[in-house]
Amino acid sequence: MSKPESNQESLMETLIGLSKRRGFIFQGSEIYGGLAGTWDYGPLGVALKNNVKKIWWQRFVDGREDMYGVDAAILMNQRTWEASGHVAGFSDPLVECKKCHHRFRADQLDPELAAAKKCPDCGGALGDVKQFNMMFKTQIGAGEDSAAVSYLRPETAQGMFVNFKNILDSQHPKLPFGMAQIGKAFRNEIAPRDFIFRAREFEQMEIEYFVDPRDEKKVNETFDALFEEQQKFLTVLGLDPKKIHKIEVPASDRAHYSKRSVDTEYDFPFGQKELLGIAYRTDFDLKAHTTMSGVDLSYFDEETKTRFIPHCIEPTFGLDRLILAVLSNAYTEDDMGGEKRVFMKFAPAVAPVKIAVFPLLKNKPELIKKAREIYASLKKEFGAVEFDDNGNIGKRYRRQDEIGTPFCVTIDFDTIEKGEGVTIRHRDTGTQERVSEANLLDFLTKKMS
Ligand code: GAP
Repeated sequence: MSKPESNQESLMETLIGLSKRRGFIFQGSEIYGGLAGTWDYGPLGVALKNNVKKIWWQRFVDGREDMYGVDAAILMNQRTWEASGHVAGFSDPLVECKKCHHRFRADQLDPELAAAKKCPDCGGALGDVKQFNMMFKTQIGAGEDSAAVSYLRPETAQGMFVNFKNILDSQHPKLPFGMAQIGKAFRNEIAPRDFIFRAREFEQMEIEYFVDPRDEKKVNETFDALFEEQQKFLTVLGLDPKKIHKIEVPASDRAHYSKRSVDTEYDFPFGQKELLGIAYRTDFDLKAHTTMSGVDLSYFDEETKTRFIPHCIEPTFGLDRLILAVLSNAYTEDDMGGEKRVFMKFAPAVAPVKIAVFPLLKNKPELIKKAREIYASLKKEFGAVEFDDNGNIGKRYRRQDEIGTPFCVTIDFDTIEKGEGVTIRHRDTGTQERVSEANLLDFLTKKMS
């Protein structure tokens, strides 16, 4: 497992600084001193996140015939979480210092301090390890009795299992088929850390893919095919394949519902850590909900005239971890014109701003007019296009580099006086080329793909 180097640790500080300065991600509730484990996405962060969601939905839902999208409620009947095993077992080991009362995850303590039961913050004595349930409990309605208890969902998965019958009854799918959902999940992490990597509120993109368990070979092939789809998706996001690692999770580390799990880990600046996963959940969830609700969640196979509970393979993606991977993967420094330059090497498909349009000079109405015209036509086509006439052109390039805009289009006097097209400047190399106005749309469309 790769260890973080100190320059990688400072990369995290740099990324957090850049994210705030340029409007990608801010600390949650910042003006009140923040709220640990919560993060707010600014204009560029939202655009980046939406691009990743869009690509995911296109690849895993719209681009396939066998997937059904849902958007289930975050608050669910508390019995959901009893059936899923979360009430009884969704916990992390917690220790508290008897002196400073700081709390730590027992399994993340330095082994020497853990053995000596010594607090990492003040050196005081640590108490006994207790299991701490990570679900956020809340009260529904005006009643204060235990029947009114609910939880903020700790995974999006259960919102799909409880809708399994609704999908059968409304869509009449044939096995194999999947349900897909993007949405918020909440975990009361004992130690939120590493920016958006471990948060208390985060987003997941999950698929529950249902298969006929009787054909074991097919089940295994489906598992492998979905794993491969996860890997391809990471390449589309532009992540460096050398930083991606496949980890077959040993039985001792698997979740209670999983017969097989494969994690995909990524070389984050703070080390190699879990990015996403895939688990063979068998019939654990549908069976558990059948028992708890009394509603039959079996499937009737018209061909063989048999009824059974399908098995489930679950590819799961942490959206915020993907964003962190995309940000850290994109961060690049080089030398340009004798000066240090910082740029975000986003794949065009994920870049929050695709194109920036500049008039060469700010105070020339004829340049502005032409630049505005070109801006409007590009915005109509590509959406995420910016117009900028602030400061000198060098400064505008630096800003666009730092937010990862792949192409800058400059309109100068040759554009309007000689009809010699526009200048396109490429982010990664800083090279410029002249493209005629007539070819501009076509040229950029090709480059985007
Ligand atoms: N439904 C299965 C499930 O929730 P998980 O491994 O607990 O499995 C899935 O979570 C993904 O959600 C992880 O691979 C990770 O990307 C993301 N994730 C989990 N806890 C997180 C946290 N506290 N902050 C940010 N992302 C988290």
